[in-house]
Amino acid sequence: MTARPRVVVVGALPALGIELMRQRLEVDPGPIRPERSWLREHVSGAAAIVADPGVPIDAALLDAAGASLKVVANFAVGYDNIDLEAVRARGIRATNTPDVLTNATAELAITLMLAAARRVTEADALTRSGEWQEEQALLGRELAGATVGLVGFGRIARRVAELLRGFEVLLLVSARSRIAAPSGAEQRELEDLLASADFVSLHVPLSSETRYLIDASRLAQIKRGAVLVNTSRGGVIDTAALIDALRSGRLGAAGLDVYEHEPQVPRELRELPNTVLLPHIGSATGKTREAMARLCVENVLAVIEGREPPTPVV
Ligand code: DGY
Repeated sequence: MTARPRVVVVGALPALGIELMRQRLEVDPGPIRPERSWLREHVSGAAAIVADPGVPIDAALLDAAGASLKVVANFAVGYDNIDLEAVRARGIRATNTPDVLTNATAELAITLMLAAARRVTEADALTRSGEWQEEQALLGRELAGATVGLVGFGRIARRVAELLRGFEVLLLVSARSRIAAPSGAEQRELEDLLASADFVSLHVPLSSETRYLIDASRLAQIKRGAVLVNTSRGGVIDTAALIDALRSGRLGAAGLDVYEHEPQVPRELRELPNTVLLPHIGSATGKTREAMARLCVENVLAVIEGREPPTPVV
């Protein structure tokens, strides 16, 4: 009997994904954040690697896997952890899990806008500590009537735009190419959007072009007192400059789900009252994680069985 192809699973794939793969493959489950040495040893001779954006997949690792490797399947829509050139050069496929997490992540972006604007974490902490505050002490602001700027206009930003309809905001969008802005929205240059929006929400993938897109000079262009929300990747913002802008009050508040060096969240950000800080849970609903797991498994099986994967990146 020929041995079944082996898949090495690291990252946060739910148990359902492991169970589904076990029906057809030999599964080698590892830690969520494996040591490099563990990974190098285990990928040797594997047909597939399942990972997530917290696990770098570079040329050296692909070489450690050897000629048996057919697919790197990311359990995420983002794939900034994968060296795509190296994947391409070796004739390997790479896949991701788009669409199924669009709504969950868009809802979280709006959660962060509202929580930051209404000082929810600050108010919650005070209430828990037994310090009842009069309403007047915790004045926030409303989304209704505000100008919201979406930076990047892919699937998630489009869903945010749809969900914001009921809030009666003026919507600005900034995208690299000319896009069909939804009705009622205006496309603007990034600088113009930053200067005009009361809420700025980031929706760009991390790449060499977007690393530190929001640096000290761009933070200085943001409208005074605005709320900045990031559900994309931490590396899109220069964290040190963000901390300065929040401390000085130039930026009113920040709602963050992602950080430059996850899982570390800088102490300065944790100490600031005008931040809402979440541990990268954009796609973390039961329904979405299950759908992501199914799609990730379908991608792995398709490549191993010689079919076109449903959501290829390479
Ligand atoms: C994604 O899918 O890219 C999320 O950010 C999880 O990493």
